[in-house]
Amino acid sequence: KKVIFSGIQPTGVMTLGNYLGAVKNWVQLQEDYNCIYCIVNMHAITVRQDPKALRQNTLEAYALLLACGIDPEKSIAFIQSHVTTHAELNWVLACSTQFGELSRMTQFKDKAKRYPENVNAGLFTYPVLMVADILLYQAHLVPVGIDQKQHLELTRDVAARFNNAYGNTFVIPEPYIPDQAHGAKIMSLADPTKKMSKSDDNANAFISILDKPEVIVKKFKRAVTDSEAEVCYREGKDGINNLMTIYSAVTGADFAAIEREFSGRGYGDFKTAVGEAVAEHLRPVRENFDRLMADKAYLESCYKRGAEMAECISRRTMDKVYKKIGFLPK
Ligand code: TYM
Repeated sequence: KKVIFSGIQPTGVMTLGNYLGAVKNWVQLQEDYNCIYCIVNMHAITVRQDPKALRQNTLEAYALLLACGIDPEKSIAFIQSHVTTHAELNWVLACSTQFGELSRMTQFKDKAKRYPENVNAGLFTYPVLMVADILLYQAHLVPVGIDQKQHLELTRDVAARFNNAYGNTFVIPEPYIPDQAHGAKIMSLADPTKKMSKSDDNANAFISILDKPEVIVKKFKRAVTDSEAEVCYREGKDGINNLMTIYSAVTGADFAAIEREFSGRGYGDFKTAVGEAVAEHLRPVRENFDRLMADKAYLESCYKRGAEMAECISRRTMDKVYKKIGFLPK
């Protein structure tokens, strides 16, 4: 079986963008692959975090993964800082990554602009840690949203460079990105030319997957669309395209069916229907989450076991890497 690896940051509650762009696919992939999923708390500290909030958010992010349908019996689900090989391989690969390559990462440039008071070295080398995450598990496929594509390209470059220099060591991974009509980039509800992001200052711009049903419906009712009145998927109709993508993802209806369903009915009806469908789709997630958070011992047993398995798999790669680069065995 091929290996899948992916990760998500524990900074605040997962959004509908994280869910439709990535996590929903992670759940489906469990049936056919060896899946390894990680809460990347080491990545999260590239932006200043309140320690208490980070601890809580990490546990909640883990619970949310299980609540969405990641099954700890089928997949390995763990917390990044529990597996020390991530930091170890990060260092080795930092020495195989060029300053110029990292300088070209658009996410770094965006975040440096957003947090000018804290452009730390970790923010700059963030992609190297992500490369290490993936290569440690010899992953073949990495399911992510489109915003991670450049980091995946870097991963392939660094892996190939290392293999060239030291002999075959790493599997070269492929990105697994849905197409735009299937959630590769879910857009902001307040500005549909921008990505939906949980760090948006406007809480109406994003849906958190734990938002209450009435809040979800309200946010969709306020979603920015256009001045026409036709529900159809067409270039230039960013707001409606986004709502159609979301509606299609949660109901399974294709665009032709959606166009038929709402033909001649105006945007108000459509927005309400999307809001209700999303609220309904997320209802079991919210219920599972509440149940899981009430059983901390169970969560702990899951993430401990996940870390043990991840440690074991990644240690094999780490041993191989140390040998290849000429580190004297201990
Ligand atoms: P993060 O935590 O920002 O997002 C987690 C996943 O959600 C996707 N995503 C979206 N997809 C569609 N529409 C959106 N609006 C949207 N917003 C977020 C992201 O593409 C991602 O797949 N660097 C990564 C975490 C990471 C990682 C890894 C991923 C660390 N190591 C190794 C894969 C493999 C990140 O910050 O994701």
